Amino acid sequence: MPDLDPPQRQATDALMLTGFWYRALPADRVHRNQLHKATLPEIPLVIGRDRVGQPFALRDSCPHRGMPLNCGKFEGENLECGYHGWQFDVHNGQCQLIPSLTSDQNLKVDRIYAGSYPCEDQDGFIWVYIHDPGAPGAGFAPPTDAPDPAPQVEKFTSKYKLAYLQAEMPVSIDHGIIGLMDPAHGPFVHQAWWWRTQHSIHEKKKNFEPIPNGFRMAAHTPSSNSAPYKLLRLYADADSITTTIDFVLPNIRTETIRAGKYWFSSLTTVTPITRSHCRIDVVAAWNLFRWVPFVPDVLKFVFAKFVEQDRRTMELQAEGLKHNPHLMLIDDADRPAKWYFQLKAAHLEAKRTGSEMKHPMQGPVTLRWRS
Ligand code: FES
Ligand SMILES: [Fe+2]
Repeated sequence: MPDLDPPQRQATDALMLTGFWYRALPADRVHRNQLHKATLPEIPLVIGRDRVGQPFALRDSCPHRGMPLNCGKFEGENLECGYHGWQFDVHNGQCQLIPSLTSDQNLKVDRIYAGSYPCEDQDGFIWVYIHDPGAPGAGFAPPTDAPDPAPQVEKFTSKYKLAYLQAEMPVSIDHGIIGLMDPAHGPFVHQAWWWRTQHSIHEKKKNFEPIPNGFRMAAHTPSSNSAPYKLLRLYADADSITTTIDFVLPNIRTETIRAGKYWFSSLTTVTPITRSHCRIDVVAAWNLFRWVPFVPDVLKFVFAKFVEQDRRTMELQAEGLKHNPHLMLIDDADRPAKWYFQLKAAHLEAKRTGSEMKHPMQGPVTLRWRS
């Protein structure tokens, strides 16, 4: 039985990947001319919106003497540090003014930067691109762009509804993610009289295939006890319903369900906050029931219930993990978790050697488990 390299023993940079976009804050919490704190893979950030609503993200530490910039003054343009009044352009971090300089002191102010991160407003969240760390002691340089735009929830029509849910969990990103992709906890964690009971447990067989940076549970008629599926059954006949679930590094699970002209799609992320803390954010978009009152609320209620059950479970699990126990992953139910660890290792290896990433899956695989 293969062991699991316990996340609590991994090096920080192997546990929390850089060079990716991460969700930082719900967009509706970040108002113009205001500053907010956030932490993404242990990096303190100050996030805000300028006068016209454009979001920005800076390292929450003044390059002068480390004062948190969120304690500074910001009225929609430059951010002024609260300690000695240095001012920074919020979008590129460039220093604009050092009040203590006399007219004959020719320090090149514009060569000083507060660390700045690419930032996007996407599907109700502020996303921040976390670069790979630069050389130690190099200071901050002008910002570089992210190689790709932030991920988006897939949408199939121009009109749709969007909702989000989030929950903080006191476990590492790895436990958050493998908990999210774990098929065997359903009957024990997600029980409800109106939903399913332990007695509904039955054997399942699912096809998986490799995709770039991840794997896909191939399009199929969804499990008869999945939430959106039960609702979709009211609208379309069972045979026309297909669903695809993808996982891609570093932390993204997307689910797409289509039934004729109706669709439901979600993009869930598990974001590393610190090495022992992560946050799950679910953003869902759909075009069914748009005109029916209450149905979105029912959907949100069902999802909230699920997320809360997972959160509570991980809170309890964190108690057990404190003692650094020996852990194991078993076939077939924990195979997606094994793929996750293998994908991560392959990604880090490709980065280390500068070669192309070697995907751990050779081809399609069928997994069987009872849940
Ligand atoms: S610490 Fe920020 S201006 Fe001195
Ligand atoms: Fe769950």
